[in-house]
Amino acid sequence: MTEYETILVEQRGRVGWITLNRPQALNALNGQVADEVTAAAVAFDEDDGVGAIVVTGSEKAFAAGADIKEMEGMSASDMFATDHFGAWNDFAGVRTPVIAAVSGFALGGGCELAMMCDIILAADTAKFGQPEINLGVIPGMGGTQRLIRAIGYYKAAELILSGRMMGAEEAERAGLVSRVVPASDLLDEATKLAETIASKGLPSLYAAKASLDTAMETTLAAGLIHEKKAFAALFDTEDQKEGMAAFREKREPNFTHR
Ligand code: CAA
Repeated sequence: MTEYETILVEQRGRVGWITLNRPQALNALNGQVADEVTAAAVAFDEDDGVGAIVVTGSEKAFAAGADIKEMEGMSASDMFATDHFGAWNDFAGVRTPVIAAVSGFALGGGCELAMMCDIILAADTAKFGQPEINLGVIPGMGGTQRLIRAIGYYKAAELILSGRMMGAEEAERAGLVSRVVPASDLLDEATKLAETIASKGLPSLYAAKASLDTAMETTLAAGLIHEKKAFAALFDTEDQKEGMAAFREKREPNFTHR
């Protein structure tokens, strides 16, 4: 497996784990982290032995944002020329379902990284926020767009304009987080959820994620057309035949991911 310096990467069964590992900077997301997380996620995505990916950090911080020290001296033309956060587009584009298991700070780019995932599980210690306004900038990894879609305009506007952090319970009420669990249970709960997802057939997982993504992008009418085609296409897969035969025969399906 590729050697990484800022993340730990491990495959357990059909689940790929990516653990952010820059404790000295509260997992701040510099260019190397972006490249490594993306490379690891894309490698898992290309492996049909992986049916779910979990991204997590440390107890204290999922990630405290983009690396401020790396950005501080940059100019606008540096930002454009290097497409500073561009590597994350490939991360957000993986077909495999991704779970963010968040403990501690998920701020700025950390909150935005969580929102590039499909499911956010939070420890009761998690704190979410977009504090970029305190630095004289705005969210730059999708926060102004994805937070509104997640929690609605008015709450997103309050958080982005004030820089206020919200705790895990508030984030769950707002719809950003699917479930809050005690911090000590976070990794076990993420494992259970990821294993459940990874036990399903890959073609239907990919189709479900692509259809969910389409719903974020388009009108209801166009989204329903996408869903109709994706649903029909699954009837050419072995897993559809197996899944429905298993139901009829009252047994567990044995998906081949084809
Ligand atoms: N970038 C670079 N370094 C960071 C960092 C970041 N985003 N967040 C924390 N660190 C570093 C600190 O500089 C410190 O390093 P030193 O010991 O070398 O000084 C180390 O991590 C530990 O941090 P603190 O001592 O500050 O820890 P704390 O417990 O007192 O505070 C915190 C924790 C409230 C999260 C605080 O670290 C903080 O406010 N961090 C910045 C949060 C932030 O503004 N994030 C947005 C970044 S901009 C962005 O993300 C743009 C975008 O949209 C993509």
